[in-house]
Amino acid sequence: MDKFVIHGGRKLNGSVRISGSKNGSLPVLFSTLLSDGPIHLSNIPTELRDIRLSLEILQSLGAEYQIHPDGSVKLEVTDSASTTADYEQVSKMRASICCLGPLLARRGEARVSLPGGCSIGDRPVELHTRGMEALGAEVRIESGYVVAKAPRLRGNTVYLSGPMGPTVLGTQNVMMAAAGAEGVTVIEGAACEPEVQATAGFLRAIGIVIEGDGTPVIRIEGHGRLGGDSCLAGCDYEIPPDRIETGTYLLAGAIAGGEVVVEGCRPSENSALLHLLERIGVPVEVGESTLTVRGVESVNPVDIAMLPYPAFPTDLQGPLMALMCLGRGVSLITDKVFPDRFNHLSELRRFGARIRKEGPSAIIEGGAPLSGATVMASDLRASACLVLAGLVAEGRTEVTRIYHLERGYERMEQKLGQLGADVEKIDDKMAEKIDDREMARG
Ligand code: EPU
Repeated sequence: MDKFVIHGGRKLNGSVRISGSKNGSLPVLFSTLLSDGPIHLSNIPTELRDIRLSLEILQSLGAEYQIHPDGSVKLEVTDSASTTADYEQVSKMRASICCLGPLLARRGEARVSLPGGCSIGDRPVELHTRGMEALGAEVRIESGYVVAKAPRLRGNTVYLSGPMGPTVLGTQNVMMAAAGAEGVTVIEGAACEPEVQATAGFLRAIGIVIEGDGTPVIRIEGHGRLGGDSCLAGCDYEIPPDRIETGTYLLAGAIAGGEVVVEGCRPSENSALLHLLERIGVPVEVGESTLTVRGVESVNPVDIAMLPYPAFPTDLQGPLMALMCLGRGVSLITDKVFPDRFNHLSELRRFGARIRKEGPSAIIEGGAPLSGATVMASDLRASACLVLAGLVAEGRTEVTRIYHLERGYERMEQKLGQLGADVEKIDDKMAEKIDDREMARG
């Protein structure tokens, strides 16, 4: 298992280029199961583990693919026989539940393992299955699998908001199923995240008429049963930049800049973060596709809740918490999307941060000096939080189990290194040797 070794306190300066969106790519990759033509996807973050795993799942479902060095992927479904997405693969990545909609629409049935629990909290899929049922599928849970059948899907009005608000992947899953339904589907209570728009854009590119994506009501004109002569075209499609990676580097710049220019991003998709940074006293210059942030010694405290888009994203809750350790006073961060997503909290305490959890909130007493520590990454965004804290903590930090980080951030050690951070990725064997050497020295 690889780890990061960070020597904190170096100022970050220079520019960093944002990769294609992970969460924008994953449902688009699964949507390719709907099409029979060749598909060329550009700006895919092909180095991410979740992208590689999705491609393996697609291969097991009859797709052939090639990854090109420029970050594009060519893909074509050549065999539509299989309808099963296995536990082994699906349990590693929740987004693979997004096989369900396209398999039902294109192959009339699907057997997709339940993704199960997750270290960021409970993650049910009943809104996905309810959506499929509303389109006429018979759905049951059998031996840990969602088993769904629908010789024909029929358009309907589907409501997709649950106790914690709308579901992002659920909205995309139902959109994909609706593409192969007869008639019009209207999704009410739809998620408004930019990633939903990315999937809608792809579905439009393969010939589906969709309106309203980016709003809570989405209208999809179904193509009717897919298969045989009735098929959807191939296309060329570009994945948008990753707004969560953008936010993470902005927060890194706020914590440890210097001056950091985040390039190749869409500033409007980070407006909640930009407003927050302004409020707490972090200067940011907004360009057309760039954001320039200047680091600060301390920030004003906040009281903020993570909510569905366009509010502050839960995926930046951890990285924000690292910044709020520099607050001049007490901050309150509440996660209303994933109320148990606080794995990073006890690890932040190892740096000397003064934090406690109360229900879905973290209370952070800012201003305590942070000192380097050995901390363990436990999920993707918690890992980013720990790396950011390591950049500003005095001395040596080790972030272990960084495979979590590599699910969602391409070459983070290189990108931070280009900005002047002292971050090294060390593989286990080398790590063991260095530990031995340091022990011998000590
Ligand atoms: N929910 C239900 N029932 C459902 C589905 C969801 O109650 O059937 C609840 C969830 O438990 C949660 C809330 O609704 O409390 C929102 O969950 P949502 O379904 O929107 O999450 P998701 O679609 O599974 C995506 C991202 C997450 C991101 C969330 C929220 C992908 C691959 N994942 O998950 O990204 O946190 O939306 O914005 O798109 C990450 O990248 O680190 C990550 C976890």
